[in-house]
Amino acid sequence: MEKIRVDLAERSYNIYIGSDTLDGIGDRLTLFDLSPKIAMVSNPTVFSLYGDRVTDTVRKAGFDLLTITIPDGEEFKDLIRVEHIYDELLRYKLDRSSALIALGGGVIGDITGFAASTYMRGISSIQIPTTLLAQVDSSVGGKTGFNHKLGKNMIGTFWQPGIVWIDTETLKTLPERELLAGLAEVIKYGVIHDEELFRFLEHNRDKILNIDSDTVTHIIKRSCEIKAEVVSKDERESGLRAILNYGHTIGHAVETVTGYTRFLHGEAVAIGMCLEARLSELLGIIDKEHAQRIKALIDSYGLPSEMPEDIKTGDLFSSMKLDKKAVAGALKFILPEKIGKVRIQKEVSEKDISDSLQA
Ligand code: NAD
Ligand code: GLY
Repeated sequence: MEKIRVDLAERSYNIYIGSDTLDGIGDRLTLFDLSPKIAMVSNPTVFSLYGDRVTDTVRKAGFDLLTITIPDGEEFKDLIRVEHIYDELLRYKLDRSSALIALGGGVIGDITGFAASTYMRGISSIQIPTTLLAQVDSSVGGKTGFNHKLGKNMIGTFWQPGIVWIDTETLKTLPERELLAGLAEVIKYGVIHDEELFRFLEHNRDKILNIDSDTVTHIIKRSCEIKAEVVSKDERESGLRAILNYGHTIGHAVETVTGYTRFLHGEAVAIGMCLEARLSELLGIIDKEHAQRIKALIDSYGLPSEMPEDIKTGDLFSSMKLDKKAVAGALKFILPEKIGKVRIQKEVSEKDISDSLQA
């Protein structure tokens, strides 16, 4: 099993990555100083696939386990479901040295992490991510939260997990579209920090799409290492962590103007990465060859790389300015200089953005 340390002083933790490792989580939890009661949040889709295995290993390790399910879907990442989790935890009399396990994708991970961070002023959060997106991104780094009717992920906390337990075998049941959306985030890590990872993605497409265990372990490990390094240096996104948002300034706007129903997050980020690379090329920051390599890789995985013609530039601007990453309406872009290196660009003219969107 691979182990990656996220170095954050007293909030440090390990990410474990392996194949067919789900049954090992119970024993691992006995190494922590936890009370005998544990709770787990999942959704019916993931619980029906993996719930019994996690329940068995946790109970065999000597814990009492309460399982809570919330309906499957981004629309259920809301305050009503957070309250439901609190209700169940209080009825079960979960105490302050208990832990809350998240078994699922980013929706379950975010809402469970939030509940863990606020229940009795904070209990341990154990992340068992089961989508590629959650394994390479959302389960690591401590951003938790839920959606408000006026904006996605608008309410949240920073709360680092106690452990992240990744079983790559769970990817075998993931719909291909979800796998590809997660791969967009892996491509992102290649562009922002690691040309070798980028090249690996160029040369190992078939093995990745067939979920070859060693191959996917490698890309998940590299992604987590990069995220761990960035988060260790800038936990609260006062600077460097913003590089993880490459492709997201435009990507989030695409998601918002299409009502979060047309594109998965990773698909919108794929469009954003291509257009932000084009913007970088327009500004003379990246050369044409590197910008084209980014688009070619995204195309080769069947991810979208162009702005759909029916999306209006004006709507994208309005949305970008309202984004929580914009400060006083000023847009910030993460622009690639070459594969493996990006810069944070705070001043980009509306004309240049508009030109790149319409090119
Ligand atoms: P998701 O959690 O909705 O999961 C996608 C779908 O796959 C769901 O239907 C789910 O039930 C299903 N699923 C999960 N694991 C499965 C498996 N192994 N087999 C079969 N089906 C499975 O979506 P996601 O892409 O994992 O996460 C998206 C969420 O993550 C968004 O809410 C986003 O805001 C959040 N996010 C958070 C961060 C962060 O840093 N906290 C970063 C990126 C995204
Ligand atoms: N997903 C971006 C971050 O965690 O900062």
